[in-house]
Amino acid sequence: MDLNRRPDNMERITTKELAEKFIDEQVAAVRAQVGDGKVLLALSGGVDSSVVAALLIKAIGKQLVCVHVNHGLMRKDESENVIKVFKDELDANLIYVDATDRFLDLLAGVSEPEKKRKIIGAEFINVFADEARGLEDVDFLAQGTIYPDILESIKQAEGKKAVKSHHNVGGLPEDLKFQLVEPIKLLFKDEVRVVGEALGLPHAMVYRQPFPGPGLGVRCLGAITRDRLHALREADAILREEFDKNGLAEKVWQYFIVVPDIKSVGVKDESRYEGWPAIIRAINTKDAMSATIEEIPYAVLHKITDRITNEVEGINRVLYDLTPKPVGTIEWE
Ligand code: XMP
Repeated sequence: MDLNRRPDNMERITTKELAEKFIDEQVAAVRAQVGDGKVLLALSGGVDSSVVAALLIKAIGKQLVCVHVNHGLMRKDESENVIKVFKDELDANLIYVDATDRFLDLLAGVSEPEKKRKIIGAEFINVFADEARGLEDVDFLAQGTIYPDILESIKQAEGKKAVKSHHNVGGLPEDLKFQLVEPIKLLFKDEVRVVGEALGLPHAMVYRQPFPGPGLGVRCLGAITRDRLHALREADAILREEFDKNGLAEKVWQYFIVVPDIKSVGVKDESRYEGWPAIIRAINTKDAMSATIEEIPYAVLHKITDRITNEVEGINRVLYDLTPKPVGTIEWE
């Protein structure tokens, strides 16, 4: 039997009862696989790694070591929330690494989008590997691989062109050799969410909108500076708050702010006020391959514009991106 293929007769996990049965089976399987060994997990706070963490905490408690790397490109309160949920509420063995300076120093002056992505991806592996080397007796690495990742790899193995590259254990340095623990690798995303809720994770975490690995780094366009990154983070938090308040969070698949590296002239307190524009991106899609623009009520757009221009230092205009995919990609970089 190919353990990487979903059996034809595998029932889709659509209810709490089915999720609980799956959880019981995986808890037993993980215990059988790792015995009293230690397992390492990179916990980003995304749905997949969070569900794996909660599942493994249930199975092996403190034998799981979670490492949360804050690359300084997280959204507002995101790392704090990971600590609150996993360390404070689930009593996880969690190592928090604030690597903000490492990342922002490396990115200083780098404006080419692909170069930025490569630096962020490579440094993420460096930071994680440094932490892993400092730990003793870890034989296992848990990963939030899900079935679409496996299908993508199968397609690549069959010589089809990759739609996008996934960052996974393949990137770890040679000296770090682990056996993999991948408890949700046969699940589709909707099933992962049902399992996450059955494990008691907060709804907002389980239904979190997708967030790219390079984080706000690909939304702070061009060469990242700390002041513009700060403005982007604050403006994005306001957008998310207003979408939540106005019932749009459930209707729009992905929404965020982009801040380009240009300034325009404005006026504030009767003085000249040069600032960056904040661009709203709000899209709907099924599979992220194509995307349409959601119609946001003007009243909400006005409210967001007022709040961002009044509350966020350095922003003096708010724009709304009406471009579908294609021709624009969802992210700007
Ligand atoms: P694009 O910009 O290609 O984005 O239309 C499609 C979807 O993928 C997300 N995205 C990423 N997700 N790592 C990720 O995990 C990445 O490097 C990455 N880049 C883009 C993007 O947010 C959108 O949902």
